[in-house]
Amino acid sequence: MQLNPYAGAYLTDPGIIWRRLLDDPVGAHYADDLGLWLISKYEYVRRALGDPSTFANALTLLPVYQPTPEALAVISQIDPPPTTAAADPPTHPRTRKALRATFANTDRRVEEQYGGIVRRRVDQLVDRLAARPGERVDLIAEFAADLPLRVVLDILGVPESDVGRIKQWSDGQIALIWGCPSADEQLRLAQGLLDFWRYCQDLVARRARKGWIGTDFVSRALAYRGGDDAVLTESEVASMAFNLLVAGHETTAGLLAHALDFALTEPDRWRGMAVDPTGIPSFVAETLRYAPAIDGWLRLTLRPVTLGDVTIPAGARCLLLIGAANRDSAVYRDPDRFDPHRSVGREHLSFGYGPHFCIGAALARLETEIALRRLTAAIPGLRLAADYSRSYKANFAFRAHRSLPAIVDIGVPLGTPAQRMMASVPEAA
Ligand code: HEM
Repeated sequence: MQLNPYAGAYLTDPGIIWRRLLDDPVGAHYADDLGLWLISKYEYVRRALGDPSTFANALTLLPVYQPTPEALAVISQIDPPPTTAAADPPTHPRTRKALRATFANTDRRVEEQYGGIVRRRVDQLVDRLAARPGERVDLIAEFAADLPLRVVLDILGVPESDVGRIKQWSDGQIALIWGCPSADEQLRLAQGLLDFWRYCQDLVARRARKGWIGTDFVSRALAYRGGDDAVLTESEVASMAFNLLVAGHETTAGLLAHALDFALTEPDRWRGMAVDPTGIPSFVAETLRYAPAIDGWLRLTLRPVTLGDVTIPAGARCLLLIGAANRDSAVYRDPDRFDPHRSVGREHLSFGYGPHFCIGAALARLETEIALRRLTAAIPGLRLAADYSRSYKANFAFRAHRSLPAIVDIGVPLGTPAQRMMASVPEAA
């Protein structure tokens, strides 16, 4: 079969293709156009995510197409040691331990360490939008894509003045690896990625020279390393920063974009959140299930593996269709319906599962929940522009909106004093 992820139905409404794959009893499908095995059923995707002895992460960050020789010459100079999404045992357990020690990943630690940063950045962006009543804004460029980037830069201790180039490099990495760039673009994006990697090496080297006394991630990781390469090398710290700068914002930007889209598509839903924000956490959970920011992720088989009636050979690249797995009717009732009141069922797979489970899940949820609370309260009349039609960037892993045009209508003030109080209750830790 052909997945054809860069055009047609998969690009505009992937749910149609996911349904077709899920309804087919076959355990896995081979996509000739990508040279990838597609795994879509919840049980199999979960198994692949959780079994590194069969499904390796190696090659996860390499393009699936054959780059041009010119682009390849540049790509071969980008040599971060695998530490997170591209690492396998025996390296991954060691680097994962380092990551958990230096990057907050529980609700409590995230609130303690990053809550202040998130609120400050949300308030800045919300105030900026609220100061433009009547204007047309792009909620992607001016909010959803900007907020998580600024938050992750603060957490890593990266100067704010570098926000523009990091955004460009990071978008470039996603287009280079999981998109379909032309030959000229491949070379340009590869060169950008090399510059990005050099930037991260330099960031860490400068911090190491100054001493690691800060509370930012790079300083924490250097302190954890304590000068011992057996614990973590300096190059591995740079590699972690390289990964976090991308993983820490492009993903949350996608979640925020989907959440804003679904909340604003039904104006009553948006106003309802402004008046009573208590349903926001379950709204965010359903957004994650229904429209994951990463809806396909790569693995490499280390040995033959049988899924139902299909045997995938060793050495095959597989695309785990997380978006499809989250709509498997074996797990969710009425799975193609967006239902923010859905009672808690089995955990969606949008943050992965098992040893590589997303280190930033708690941060992504905190950012999105605070953003929705503050934005609905400040601009309860915000509405999508009448000419908005949903469109995503051509990519088979990251599902990113191209734009989300909206009109800043400050709207009616929130209802009763009691309702106003509800909207401003402090967020739960
Ligand atoms: C909605 C937001 C997010 C989504 C949908 C998401 C999704 C994922 C997924 C699916 C994985 C599993 C990869 C695998 O199994 O190979 C993962 C891992 C990871 N995520 Fe996230 N992520 C999000 C936010 C974040 C944030 C905010 C950060 C950090 C600031 C982050 C950092 C990472 C890292 C470092 C890994 C690799 C962990 C490892 O390999 O041990 N992510 N994420």
